[in-house]
Amino acid sequence: MENRSIGVFDSGVGGLTVMKQLLQTLPEEHFIYFGDTARIPYGGKSRETIIRYSIENAIFLVEQNIKMLVVACNTATAHALEKLQKIFNIPIIGVIEPNIEKAVRTTKNQHIAVLGTQGTIRSEVYQQNIKKFLPNATIFPIACPLFVHLVEEKFVHHPATLLIIQEYLRPLRHHPIDTVLLGCTHYPLLKQLIMKELGKHVSVIDSAPTCAEKVAELLNQLNLKRAYPNTQNHQYFVSDDPKKFQIIGEELLGEPIENVSLLISYQNISL
Ligand code: DGL
Repeated sequence: MENRSIGVFDSGVGGLTVMKQLLQTLPEEHFIYFGDTARIPYGGKSRETIIRYSIENAIFLVEQNIKMLVVACNTATAHALEKLQKIFNIPIIGVIEPNIEKAVRTTKNQHIAVLGTQGTIRSEVYQQNIKKFLPNATIFPIACPLFVHLVEEKFVHHPATLLIIQEYLRPLRHHPIDTVLLGCTHYPLLKQLIMKELGKHVSVIDSAPTCAEKVAELLNQLNLKRAYPNTQNHQYFVSDDPKKFQIIGEELLGEPIENVSLLISYQNISL
Protein backbone atom coordinates (compact mmCIF):
# COMPACT_ATOMS: atom_id res chain seq x y z
CA MET A 1 0.00 0.00 0.00
CA GLU A 2 1.34 3.33 -1.09
CA ASN A 3 0.36 6.85 -0.14
CA ARG A 4 2.52 8.65 -2.70
CA SER A 5 0.88 10.66 -5.52
CA ILE A 6 0.34 9.82 -9.17
CA GLY A 7 1.97 12.23 -11.64
CA VAL A 8 0.26 13.28 -14.88
CA PHE A 9 1.61 15.53 -17.64
CA ASP A 10 0.55 17.06 -20.93
CA SER A 11 1.64 20.05 -22.97
CA GLY A 12 -1.35 22.03 -21.65
CA VAL A 13 -4.97 21.62 -20.57
CA GLY A 14 -5.67 18.63 -22.85
CA GLY A 15 -4.38 16.12 -20.32
CA LEU A 16 -7.12 17.28 -17.98
CA THR A 17 -9.54 15.20 -20.07
CA VAL A 18 -7.57 12.19 -18.78
CA MET A 19 -7.21 13.71 -15.31
CA LYS A 20 -11.01 14.10 -15.07
CA GLN A 21 -11.48 10.41 -15.72
CA LEU A 22 -8.68 9.49 -13.30
CA LEU A 23 -10.35 11.55 -10.56
CA GLN A 24 -13.64 9.74 -11.17
CA THR A 25 -12.15 6.25 -11.39
CA LEU A 26 -9.69 6.66 -8.52
CA PRO A 27 -11.26 9.12 -6.04
CA GLU A 28 -9.06 7.85 -3.21
CA GLU A 29 -5.77 8.74 -4.97
CA HIS A 30 -3.79 12.01 -4.92
CA PHE A 31 -2.64 13.50 -8.24
CA ILE A 32 0.01 16.02 -9.29
CA TYR A 33 -0.63 17.46 -12.77
CA PHE A 34 1.88 19.35 -14.88
CA GLY A 35 0.85 21.30 -18.00
CA ASP A 36 3.79 22.55 -20.06
CA THR A 37 1.92 25.66 -21.17
CA ALA A 38 5.10 27.63 -21.95
CA ARG A 39 6.10 25.17 -24.65
CA ILE A 40 2.75 24.06 -26.08
CA PRO A 41 2.13 22.88 -28.79
CA TYR A 42 4.24 19.74 -28.85
CA GLY A 43 2.47 18.53 -32.00
CA GLY A 44 4.61 20.42 -34.52
CA LYS A 45 7.95 19.88 -32.75
CA SER A 46 10.69 17.43 -33.71
CA ARG A 47 10.97 13.99 -32.09
CA GLU A 48 14.15 15.05 -30.29
CA THR A 49 12.49 18.11 -28.77
CA ILE A 50 9.40 16.16 -27.70
CA ILE A 51 11.64 13.58 -26.01
CA ARG A 52 13.63 16.30 -24.24
CA TYR A 53 10.51 18.10 -22.99
CA SER A 54 8.98 14.81 -21.84
CA ILE A 55 12.11 13.85 -19.90
CA GLU A 56 12.21 17.26 -18.23
CA ASN A 57 8.54 17.02 -17.28
CA ALA A 58 9.06 13.52 -15.89
CA ILE A 59 12.11 14.62 -13.88
CA PHE A 60 10.03 17.35 -12.24
CA LEU A 61 7.24 14.94 -11.34
CA VAL A 62 9.57 12.19 -10.17
CA GLU A 63 11.20 14.78 -7.89
CA GLN A 64 7.75 15.18 -6.29
CA ASN A 65 8.10 11.55 -5.21
CA ILE A 66 5.32 10.10 -7.39
CA LYS A 67 4.62 6.35 -7.45
CA MET A 68 3.39 6.23 -11.07
CA LEU A 69 3.43 8.51 -14.12
CA VAL A 70 0.65 8.97 -16.67
CA VAL A 71 1.77 10.56 -19.94
CA ALA A 72 -1.57 12.24 -20.77
CA CYS A 73 -0.33 13.42 -24.15
CA ASN A 74 -0.44 11.37 -27.33
CA THR A 75 2.44 13.26 -28.93
CA ALA A 76 4.71 12.62 -25.94
CA THR A 77 3.50 9.01 -25.70
CA ALA A 78 4.19 8.42 -29.41
CA HIS A 79 7.75 9.73 -29.27
CA ALA A 80 8.97 9.47 -25.70
CA LEU A 81 7.11 6.74 -23.77
CA GLU A 82 9.71 4.02 -24.35
CA LYS A 83 12.55 6.37 -23.46
CA LEU A 84 10.82 7.44 -20.24
CA GLN A 85 10.15 3.82 -19.29
CA LYS A 86 13.87 3.07 -19.71
CA ILE A 87 15.07 6.08 -17.71
CA PHE A 88 12.72 6.15 -14.74
CA ASN A 89 12.25 3.45 -12.20
CA ILE A 90 8.48 3.81 -11.72
CA PRO A 91 5.55 2.45 -13.76
CA ILE A 92 4.78 4.80 -16.67
CA ILE A 93 1.57 4.60 -18.71
CA GLY A 94 0.77 6.37 -21.98
CA VAL A 95 -2.56 7.08 -23.66
CA ILE A 96 -2.10 5.37 -27.02
CA GLU A 97 -2.31 1.69 -26.09
CA PRO A 98 -5.65 2.02 -24.24
CA ASN A 99 -7.04 4.05 -27.14
CA ILE A 100 -6.09 1.41 -29.69
CA GLU A 101 -7.45 -1.45 -27.59
CA LYS A 102 -10.81 0.32 -27.41
CA ALA A 103 -10.89 1.01 -31.16
CA VAL A 104 -10.04 -2.59 -31.99
CA ARG A 105 -12.93 -3.77 -29.79
CA THR A 106 -15.30 -1.21 -31.33
CA THR A 107 -14.78 -1.37 -35.10
CA LYS A 108 -16.92 -3.76 -37.12
CA ASN A 109 -15.73 -3.03 -40.66
CA GLN A 110 -12.06 -2.26 -39.75
CA HIS A 111 -12.13 1.16 -41.41
CA ILE A 112 -10.65 3.41 -38.76
CA ALA A 113 -9.70 7.09 -38.85
CA VAL A 114 -7.08 8.51 -36.49
CA LEU A 115 -7.08 12.22 -35.69
CA GLY A 116 -3.95 13.57 -34.02
CA THR A 117 -1.24 16.20 -33.99
CA GLN A 118 1.30 16.28 -36.80
CA GLY A 119 3.85 14.66 -34.48
CA THR A 120 1.57 11.77 -33.54
CA ILE A 121 0.46 11.09 -37.11
CA ARG A 122 4.05 11.37 -38.37
CA SER A 123 5.25 8.84 -35.78
CA GLU A 124 2.88 6.22 -37.28
CA VAL A 125 2.52 4.65 -33.84
CA TYR A 126 -1.27 4.42 -34.21
CA GLN A 127 -1.10 3.07 -37.75
CA GLN A 128 1.49 0.39 -36.86
CA ASN A 129 -0.14 -0.74 -33.63
CA ILE A 130 -3.66 -0.98 -35.02
CA LYS A 131 -2.24 -3.23 -37.74
CA LYS A 132 -0.76 -5.53 -35.08
CA PHE A 133 -4.30 -6.35 -33.91
CA LEU A 134 -6.08 -5.95 -37.24
CA PRO A 135 -3.64 -6.63 -40.10
CA ASN A 136 -6.33 -6.00 -42.73
CA ALA A 137 -7.58 -2.74 -41.29
CA THR A 138 -7.84 0.34 -43.50
CA ILE A 139 -6.57 3.34 -41.57
CA PHE A 140 -7.09 7.02 -42.36
CA PRO A 141 -4.67 9.19 -40.40
CA ILE A 142 -5.44 12.94 -40.35
CA ALA A 143 -3.30 15.60 -38.66
CA CYS A 144 -5.48 18.38 -37.20
CA PRO A 145 -2.96 20.91 -35.84
CA LEU A 146 -5.47 23.72 -35.29
CA PHE A 147 -7.63 21.72 -32.86
CA VAL A 148 -5.20 22.19 -29.96
CA HIS A 149 -5.27 25.97 -30.35
CA LEU A 150 -9.07 26.06 -30.54
CA VAL A 151 -9.24 24.24 -27.21
CA GLU A 152 -6.47 26.22 -25.48
CA GLU A 153 -8.05 29.50 -26.63
CA LYS A 154 -11.55 28.48 -25.46
CA PHE A 155 -12.89 28.53 -29.02
CA VAL A 156 -14.84 25.29 -28.59
CA HIS A 157 -18.20 27.01 -29.07
CA HIS A 158 -17.07 29.47 -31.74
CA PRO A 159 -18.67 29.06 -35.20
CA ALA A 160 -15.19 28.95 -36.79
CA THR A 161 -14.48 25.72 -34.96
CA LEU A 162 -17.19 23.79 -36.80
CA LEU A 163 -15.84 25.04 -40.14
CA ILE A 164 -12.32 23.90 -39.24
CA ILE A 165 -13.63 20.49 -38.13
CA GLN A 166 -15.51 20.12 -41.42
CA GLU A 167 -12.39 21.02 -43.36
CA TYR A 168 -10.19 18.45 -41.58
CA LEU A 169 -12.80 15.70 -41.78
CA ARG A 170 -13.72 16.32 -45.42
CA PRO A 171 -11.52 13.44 -46.76
CA LEU A 172 -13.50 10.98 -44.61
CA ARG A 173 -16.75 11.71 -46.45
CA HIS A 174 -15.88 9.27 -49.21
CA HIS A 175 -14.76 6.43 -46.97
CA PRO A 176 -16.89 3.92 -45.05
CA ILE A 177 -15.21 4.47 -41.67
CA ASP A 178 -17.11 3.23 -38.62
CA THR A 179 -14.63 4.29 -35.91
CA VAL A 180 -12.69 7.49 -35.27
CA LEU A 181 -9.89 7.60 -32.72
CA LEU A 182 -9.22 10.91 -31.01
CA GLY A 183 -5.43 10.63 -30.88
CA CYS A 184 -4.86 13.81 -28.89
CA THR A 185 -6.01 14.51 -25.35
CA HIS A 186 -7.22 17.98 -26.34
CA TYR A 187 -9.71 16.60 -28.86
CA PRO A 188 -12.36 15.15 -26.48
CA LEU A 189 -13.39 18.77 -25.91
CA LEU A 190 -14.43 18.86 -29.56
CA LYS A 191 -16.02 15.41 -29.43
CA GLN A 192 -19.66 16.55 -29.65
CA LEU A 193 -18.97 18.62 -32.75
CA ILE A 194 -16.90 15.85 -34.35
CA MET A 195 -19.67 13.31 -33.64
CA LYS A 196 -22.28 15.62 -35.13
CA GLU A 197 -20.18 16.08 -38.25
CA LEU A 198 -19.56 12.34 -38.73
CA GLY A 199 -23.06 11.08 -38.00
CA LYS A 200 -24.47 8.45 -35.64
CA HIS A 201 -23.06 5.43 -37.51
CA VAL A 202 -19.49 6.40 -36.51
CA SER A 203 -18.09 5.64 -33.02
CA VAL A 204 -15.78 8.36 -31.71
CA ILE A 205 -13.30 7.07 -29.16
CA ASP A 206 -11.02 8.86 -26.72
CA SER A 207 -8.42 7.34 -24.45
CA ALA A 208 -9.45 8.78 -21.09
CA PRO A 209 -11.78 6.00 -19.77
CA THR A 210 -9.58 3.09 -20.86
CA CYS A 211 -6.44 4.85 -19.68
CA ALA A 212 -7.96 5.38 -16.22
CA GLU A 213 -9.00 1.71 -16.08
CA LYS A 214 -5.41 0.72 -16.97
CA VAL A 215 -4.02 2.89 -14.17
CA ALA A 216 -6.48 1.31 -11.70
CA GLU A 217 -5.50 -2.19 -12.86
CA LEU A 218 -1.81 -1.46 -12.51
CA LEU A 219 -2.19 0.05 -9.04
CA ASN A 220 -3.92 -3.17 -8.02
CA GLN A 221 -1.43 -5.48 -9.66
CA LEU A 222 1.60 -3.70 -8.21
CA ASN A 223 -0.01 -3.23 -4.82
CA LEU A 224 0.36 0.53 -5.11
CA LYS A 225 -3.13 1.62 -4.03
CA ARG A 226 -3.36 4.18 -1.26
CA ALA A 227 -3.86 2.77 2.20
CA TYR A 228 -5.94 5.79 3.30
CA PRO A 229 -8.20 7.88 1.03
CA ASN A 230 -6.61 11.17 0.00
CA THR A 231 -7.82 14.28 1.85
CA GLN A 232 -5.50 16.88 0.27
CA ASN A 233 -6.18 19.08 -2.75
CA HIS A 234 -4.69 17.79 -5.97
CA GLN A 235 -1.70 19.85 -7.11
CA TYR A 236 -1.42 21.60 -10.46
CA PHE A 237 1.74 23.06 -11.98
CA VAL A 238 2.22 24.91 -15.26
CA SER A 239 5.21 26.47 -16.98
CA ASP A 240 3.26 29.61 -17.99
CA ASP A 241 0.10 31.61 -17.19
CA PRO A 242 -1.46 29.81 -14.19
CA LYS A 243 -4.60 31.98 -14.31
CA LYS A 244 -5.47 31.00 -17.90
CA PHE A 245 -4.91 27.34 -17.03
CA GLN A 246 -7.09 27.64 -13.93
CA ILE A 247 -10.01 29.20 -15.83
CA ILE A 248 -10.07 26.60 -18.62
CA GLY A 249 -9.15 23.81 -16.22
CA GLU A 250 -12.02 24.47 -13.81
CA GLU A 251 -14.49 24.55 -16.67
CA LEU A 252 -13.10 21.33 -18.03
CA LEU A 253 -12.93 19.41 -14.76
CA GLY A 254 -16.21 20.87 -13.52
CA GLU A 255 -14.66 21.49 -10.11
CA PRO A 256 -12.52 24.20 -8.52
CA ILE A 257 -8.77 23.99 -8.96
CA GLU A 258 -7.47 25.45 -5.72
CA ASN A 259 -3.85 26.04 -6.58
CA VAL A 260 -2.01 26.33 -9.83
CA SER A 261 1.69 26.95 -9.29
CA LEU A 262 4.06 28.41 -11.83
CA LEU A 263 7.13 26.34 -12.43
CA ILE A 264 10.01 28.37 -13.76
CA SER A 265 13.12 26.48 -12.76
CA TYR A 266 12.70 23.23 -14.67
CA GLN A 267 13.85 24.63 -18.01
CA ASN A 268 17.34 24.99 -16.59
CA ILE A 269 17.68 21.29 -15.90
CA SER A 270 20.67 20.06 -17.85
CA LEU A 271 20.41 16.50 -19.09
N1 DGL B 1 -2.53 17.01 -25.90
C1 DGL B 1 -1.42 16.64 -26.71
C2 DGL B 1 -1.64 15.27 -27.34
O1 DGL B 1 -2.38 14.46 -26.81
C3 DGL B 1 -0.92 17.52 -27.80
C4 DGL B 1 -1.07 18.95 -27.83
C5 DGL B 1 0.12 19.64 -28.44
O2 DGL B 1 0.26 19.70 -29.68
O3 DGL B 1 0.91 20.10 -27.63
O4 DGL B 1 -1.06 14.97 -28.35
